[in-house]
Amino acid sequence: MAQIKHFLSLADIPASELRSILDEAHRRKRARSGFPKGGVDADAPFSGETLAMIFEKSSTRTRFSFDMAMRQLGGTSITATSNDMQLGRGETVEDTAKVLSRFVDGIMLRANAHATLVSLAHNASVPVINGLTDYNHPCQIMADLQTLEETGGDLSDMTLTWVGDGNNVAVSFVNAAAKFGYKLRLSCPDGYTVPGQTVEAARQSGAKIETTADPLKACKNSDVVIADTWVSMGDTDADKRMTDLADYQVTDALMRAANPSATFLHCLPAHRGEEVAASVIDGPQSRVFDEAENRLHAQKAIIAWCFN
Ligand code: CP
Ligand code: NVA
Repeated sequence: MAQIKHFLSLADIPASELRSILDEAHRRKRARSGFPKGGVDADAPFSGETLAMIFEKSSTRTRFSFDMAMRQLGGTSITATSNDMQLGRGETVEDTAKVLSRFVDGIMLRANAHATLVSLAHNASVPVINGLTDYNHPCQIMADLQTLEETGGDLSDMTLTWVGDGNNVAVSFVNAAAKFGYKLRLSCPDGYTVPGQTVEAARQSGAKIETTADPLKACKNSDVVIADTWVSMGDTDADKRMTDLADYQVTDALMRAANPSATFLHCLPAHRGEEVAASVIDGPQSRVFDEAENRLHAQKAIIAWCFN
């Protein structure tokens, strides 16, 4: 039997396959130009197929983009929070995986703990897609890279700078660095750095990663500046984080240090006046709404990779 293709981490998927997913995302986006949002792609590749979506925590973009993705691919989706399911009352993730595999063609999970996702994939006989965990957020980074390629540049010529908390989104940028060849600068204060073994593993596989706690230095001559919330879902120390990360707001001064044509990205939801100044996220260099839209296009390509 062919190996099931789970989409759990960008570190696990060969560069050539990630490249073809991104190409497919661009191709599908172009091919439906002018279609109504709910219109089905001309090839309707997954007619009759269903994606189950389970959320252990909140979501706007992931939830709506995956649902629309399945509709545009000719299929359908079923969404539930874990609290709507027996999972929320103690049924095991192993049994949940086996049961859902009898009903649906794929499962997307947004999990509190990455281990829950791994266990779901281990026990499912259909593909499992990571819709964010406490550890990483691979679908987001595929959309972000699609957005950067739309600016006309070649990823392998770009320097991307992450400013702030070295969180789940930062981890996926680290995981993808060697795959797409961009240079990544991480500017995170002590106590908020990306896990050392994640950075080390990426470097071992050829990633060009620099670290500096000084955000101004990190942004100098960058092509892309990226921020994310200082308090991720599940973080319980919000007050301390606000204090510890206060010097890591992406301001106009940081954007001025970057290249004049630099792009600002943020996965959203954003907190203006915290991790990013309103003038930056609402300014001319921000591509955050293209980035949000590309969740849909990138995920259609991810679903196609998993389901084919
Ligand atoms: N960026 C992102 O994953 O957004 P949601 O939490 O709204 O899904
Ligand atoms: N780092 C954020 C991303 C939200 C999409 C979180 O985990 O809450």
